[in-house]
Amino acid sequence: MQPRTPLVLCVLLSQVLLLTSAEDLDCTPGFQQKVFHINQPAEFIEDLSVGSVLLTVNATDPDSLQHQTIRYSVYKDPAGWLNINPINGTVDTTAVLDRESPFVDNSVYTALFLAIDSGNPPATGTGTLLITLEDVNDNAPFIYPTVAEVCDDAKNLSVVILGASDKDLHPNTDPFKFEIHKQAVPDKVWKISKINNTHALVSLLQNLNKANYNLPIMVTDSGKPPMTNITDLRVQVCSCRNSKVDCNAAGALRFSLPSVLLLSLFSLACL
Ligand SMILES: *[C@@H]1O[C@H](CO)[C@@H](O)[C@H](O)[C@H]1NC(C)=O
Ligand SMILES: *[C@@H]1O[C@H](CO)[C@@H](O)[C@H](O)[C@H]1NC(C)=O
Ligand SMILES: *[C@@H]1O[C@H](CO)[C@@H](O)[C@H](O)[C@H]1NC(C)=O
Ligand SMILES: *[C@@H]1O[C@H](CO)[C@@H](O)[C@H](O)[C@H]1NC(C)=O
Ligand SMILES: *[C@@H]1O[C@H](CO)[C@@H](O)[C@H](O)[C@H]1NC(C)=O
Repeated sequence: MQPRTPLVLCVLLSQVLLLTSAEDLDCTPGFQQKVFHINQPAEFIEDLSVGSVLLTVNATDPDSLQHQTIRYSVYKDPAGWLNINPINGTVDTTAVLDRESPFVDNSVYTALFLAIDSGNPPATGTGTLLITLEDVNDNAPFIYPTVAEVCDDAKNLSVVILGASDKDLHPNTDPFKFEIHKQAVPDKVWKISKINNTHALVSLLQNLNKANYNLPIMVTDSGKPPMTNITDLRVQVCSCRNSKVDCNAAGALRFSLPSVLLLSLFSLACL
């Protein structure tokens, strides 16, 4: 085993050694850039299809006397998104890149490549690839909480303050639009009103009988095109007499039932 000689020294040494024809100096191959950046205006880089070519890296080996060939390989690719052609250094994607991946830090994904020469033993050089991922609206918002309680004789008909979040960045996140998914819910029972960009108040327009109700809430982000999530808010209407809160243990009423059937269920619940 001979010690590795760093690239800069190598370049100098191989000039000198040309004269003395010392042949067993094995230099570290060097990428032509230490760091490769990809941050195109490619708005679609987060959505890029599998197999898209990102760039071609190139390394050179200063061992001019040894006529070595260089092979490339992926060294660190924590999300497993990249492939490098071992012979020509062309990097392409093996997965759809995702800005919201835990392996992406501040919208930047970091991968490392090796250039390996054919010396014995082989010498390796490292190159870094930084990919800045543009955000695309690929996440729907979600609401919290998804359960709430209210008394069947409540004077205050406010049920719950809902918040919403979205993993995307502006402008693909708030302001959110909150709606009750209309066609499935009887009119004049529920109301949702905006508090601010991220919160809304769900209230009743009349008292309801003790039961569990699934209220489909539709929340939409401000992306273009927008993304919508419909989530059931489970509202337990409890009887609260004599300061004892008694909630229904049974399953929830689904508002997707035809309203005639729903009304008969209501009357059954009254018995
Ligand atoms: C890599 O760089 C070397 C030296 O500049 C050049 O001769 C070679 O053609 C390049 N290879 C590719 C694939 O660009
Ligand atoms: C490298 O080889 C691959 C597979 O043969 C090819 O698709 C790609 O275009 C080549 N890259 C360059 C820069 O020639
Ligand atoms: C919709 O929101 C719920 C919570 O409110 C969440 O669990 C679910 O993953 C969201 N669905 C999508 C497609 O984002
Ligand atoms: C009614 O209830 C809501 C939510 O539970 C609460 O924020 C609000 O302050 C209450 N209003 C009154 C007048 O008590
Ligand atoms: C929006 O309203 C919620 C609930 O009242 C509150 O917690 C939150 O701080 C408000 N957000 C802003 C930006 O004012």
